[in-house]
Amino acid sequence: MKKLFLIPALSIVVCCCSQRKTEMDAFVSNLMSKMTLEEKIGQLNLLTVGFDVTGPKMSKDVEQKIKNGQAGGVFNIFTPNAVRKLQDMAVAQTRLHIPLLFGYDVIHGHRTIYPIPLGLAATWDTALIARIAAAVADEASADGIHWTFSPMVDIARDPRWGRVSEGAGEDPFLGSEIAKSMVHGYEQGNLSKPNTLMSCIKHFALYGAAEAGRDYNTTDMSRLRMYNEYLPPYKAAVEASASSVMTAFNEIDGVPATGNRWLLSDLLRREWGFNGVVVTDYTAILEMENHGMGSKAKVAELAVNAGVDMDMVSEYLLDELPALVKAGKVKEETVDNACRRILEAKYKLGLFADPYRGLSEARAKAQIMSAEKLALSKEAAVKSIVLLKNDRQTLPLDASKKIAFIGPLVQDQRNLIGSWSAAGNPQQAVSLRSALESKFKEHKFRYAKGCNLTDDAALRSKLNQHGGDIIPDSRTPQQLLTEALQIAQHADVIVAVLGEPFGMSGEAASRTSIDLPESQKILLKALKTAGKPIALALMNGRPLTLQWEHDNLDAIIETWYAGTQAGEAIADILFGDANPSGKITMTFPRSVGQIPIYYSHKNTGRPFSDREKYTSKYLDAGNEPLYPFGYGLSYTQFTYSGVQLSDSTLAEGGSITATVTLTNSGSRAGEEVAQLYIRDRVGSITRPVKELKGFRRVALQPGESRKISFVVTPELLKFYNADLRYTAEPGDFWLFIGGSSDTENKAAFSLLSL
Ligand code: NOJ
Repeated sequence: MKKLFLIPALSIVVCCCSQRKTEMDAFVSNLMSKMTLEEKIGQLNLLTVGFDVTGPKMSKDVEQKIKNGQAGGVFNIFTPNAVRKLQDMAVAQTRLHIPLLFGYDVIHGHRTIYPIPLGLAATWDTALIARIAAAVADEASADGIHWTFSPMVDIARDPRWGRVSEGAGEDPFLGSEIAKSMVHGYEQGNLSKPNTLMSCIKHFALYGAAEAGRDYNTTDMSRLRMYNEYLPPYKAAVEASASSVMTAFNEIDGVPATGNRWLLSDLLRREWGFNGVVVTDYTAILEMENHGMGSKAKVAELAVNAGVDMDMVSEYLLDELPALVKAGKVKEETVDNACRRILEAKYKLGLFADPYRGLSEARAKAQIMSAEKLALSKEAAVKSIVLLKNDRQTLPLDASKKIAFIGPLVQDQRNLIGSWSAAGNPQQAVSLRSALESKFKEHKFRYAKGCNLTDDAALRSKLNQHGGDIIPDSRTPQQLLTEALQIAQHADVIVAVLGEPFGMSGEAASRTSIDLPESQKILLKALKTAGKPIALALMNGRPLTLQWEHDNLDAIIETWYAGTQAGEAIADILFGDANPSGKITMTFPRSVGQIPIYYSHKNTGRPFSDREKYTSKYLDAGNEPLYPFGYGLSYTQFTYSGVQLSDSTLAEGGSITATVTLTNSGSRAGEEVAQLYIRDRVGSITRPVKELKGFRRVALQPGESRKISFVVTPELLKFYNADLRYTAEPGDFWLFIGGSSDTENKAAFSLLSL
């Protein structure tokens, strides 16, 4: 009450919140007082309907289980009609009328598809990402969904892992900023608004560090690396009030995340104060048997005692908890707590007030793929595209020239929306060819397929089992190549549109080679013999190894899988109606042998030296990547002045301001992402050679200059020391500001004793 008197506005909020919480507690307690143990356990069960199966088991008898009160939620179902039908069963046909929670993997759009998350991250535009998450929530909630299994915030430094496409890349600072934006965008700080979605931070934790980049594989790392490099984005998302967390498939310190009490109870709940729902990943409880953690009953006991609330698909909690409670192996209080958290989520979503929250055909019609959402998708696609190389101003293209567009992705629609494209309809995606044809009305360009996406029949059949839709052309590879070469001969410039079929990235899509598929490399090498300038437009879900392409082609753009409006965005970039401004958020290696490769590595005791043999390096390759983190070119040039510091020393409670003048010294308007890095030169533990600590997207007209400032406080210099204490250590630092992580534009300062 004291606070009420001192800060009235804040206190009213606090008061309202606490009143809402009191009301919720009373409601949930009252409801739970009527529930049997079996009904409580029923709430812990999450079922899937019959598609998007990502594991060894499918849910059976879903409708019957709903009616029996044996389901707290269902996922993989949407549309007002379908959701209403199941919700009716729960509300009308169960004893206590508890509504269901409806979830879905709405990863980068529901029906309007935006660039894949790795592409969105390349925009470095957190306000845009928050707007997209809000638009996604608007659209998905209109289609009956309450809960998205997003954002994936796993730090990923191994591009062999197919799931790098689903996250923000390798950096904990950028990853944390993006995680927060997504949670805010989805939840809007108020889940009772019918156009919001409950978010789910995944995969907790360290899933991005699966050994050898192989999906579902083991992870093993020191606490120091966890706390400093891998945990920050999960923590940031928890602090942004994300409502749920999904456990990872991997083990941590020898115990699978799903049964890891340290992870779920000590760290997540006690240290970080998380009080939302913990859901497992798909069949992750069942999989603990394969991990060698014991029988069905034992792994169910482990999961719930570790802190799991909801069991995705394995149904082990449903089957085993009654006996485990009876035997005293799981306290009834533990089941109560899990059930309470699930009911609280439903309460916050407003489902007890209206189980049909936001459901209406009219709303779905108005919201789904609305003009605003399509425009947002295009804006994101444009900003996500990264110009990797551009010699002799090959790009932008001159539309008056003879241009040959060659490659299996020129007129493709399916791959544009990438993997995890939810309810996105490829038929509604704009291919590059159709965008070109509407942009330049008359049919002035020449087109050829050139090759199949892959000629590897074994790979094709694996991808096609999961909706790959890769159909080899009826012509032979030689016929495709001959046609392509013919049109290439008559062109002034060639644009090759190539990449990974979408199924080669995403879940269960690890690769040992991250080259372009062989059929496409053959095409590129043949095109090279035509002696014409070649621009390569890539579509893929991970950093690829592009050494040959870099050495032999004139220009390269990375378009990721850019979503529903991909074709329009790519056409605008290729012809200069938009200027590329994306920057990569994962290092592109020169070869797989360099993996894991990331900019914020340690220095080692024998840093790389060309001259000395006994230094940390390879005999057959350099240490530098092909393209470093934060890298991306523009059609204009940006120049940075030297770094000016407001002071050369920083004291406790103080700050210094670092300033550069950024100039657009080229002849086109453009946007640049200015990046701040810091190096802590001496520490009680070894420190990375550079760490991102700030970034800003700036739009500049030709010739325009702007001062860009970053404020540095001791807080920004903190890290977890050997005792896992979060602290900044006095001493000397370098501060860098530039357009990529390899910038050497730096100034020195010292942090005084605290
Ligand atoms: C498995 C994936 O790992 C997870 O990310 C996804 O949310 C679930 N399947 C549900 O589809």
